[in-house]
Amino acid sequence: MKGIVLAGGTATRLGELTRITNKHLLPIADYPMIYYPLKALESAGIREVCLVTGKDHASRFIELLGDGQVIDRQGNKVFDLDITYRMQARPGGIAEAISLAKNFAGSDKVIVVLGDNIFQYPLTKYVQKFKEQKQGGRILLWKPENASAYGVPTIDETTQRITEIQEKPREPKSPYAVIGVYMLDPKVFSYLDNIAPSERGEMEVTDLLNEYIRHSVLEYDFLDGWWRDAGQSQRELYEISKLIYDSSVVL
Ligand code: G1P
Repeated sequence: MKGIVLAGGTATRLGELTRITNKHLLPIADYPMIYYPLKALESAGIREVCLVTGKDHASRFIELLGDGQVIDRQGNKVFDLDITYRMQARPGGIAEAISLAKNFAGSDKVIVVLGDNIFQYPLTKYVQKFKEQKQGGRILLWKPENASAYGVPTIDETTQRITEIQEKPREPKSPYAVIGVYMLDPKVFSYLDNIAPSERGEMEVTDLLNEYIRHSVLEYDFLDGWWRDAGQSQRELYEISKLIYDSSVVL
């Protein structure tokens, strides 16, 4: 199993903070934001990671993370990863960014983590379930205050299966958000061929997940602990840092 961390985009929601830098390099508590999703993968036993970002700030990620053997200023090992980089030429969406990691993934299952997603607890138990899953994809759901800011699943009351996912719906069909962790089998790359750009010109991850639903192979778990998407607003960056300090989350 390999990891893919997505760290592209223009992050206009963060205003002046991202005018000259990449969102995922901004500080959250004691570390650059990108450290959290990388650590989430490493703690779940994944060593090979492909980082996808835009060309404007790609060199900063290479400066910070190099080949994935990262030592901090006190000489302690922060990461023992094997990082490969891929460039996304324009902000073409999450699904397009995943497609850039096709050769990296080969015939392995992948866990895609959005570079701005922060979790209270390790993802180990969900990754384990996905390892045991014979085929398909697996996503994680969490109940936020405002589901309409995220991808939202419709869950069939009888079967408890997800029947559809809608991207930022005005009237959410459930109170859950699909968080930015997508566990995908190697079929992902053929499913990507079936999807077209959305109205805003991007290849949407929601359309990709709906392909898994169409083939009846999308499983899910509810995520324990808190989850945050640090791309929402400037204030949210502060709130997440506070949450990390208050709940003693260690990297
Ligand atoms: C993206 C996805 C959305 C998902 C969210 C999680 O939205 O499109 O489905 O719920 O990440 O962080 P974005 O935050 O890029 O607008």
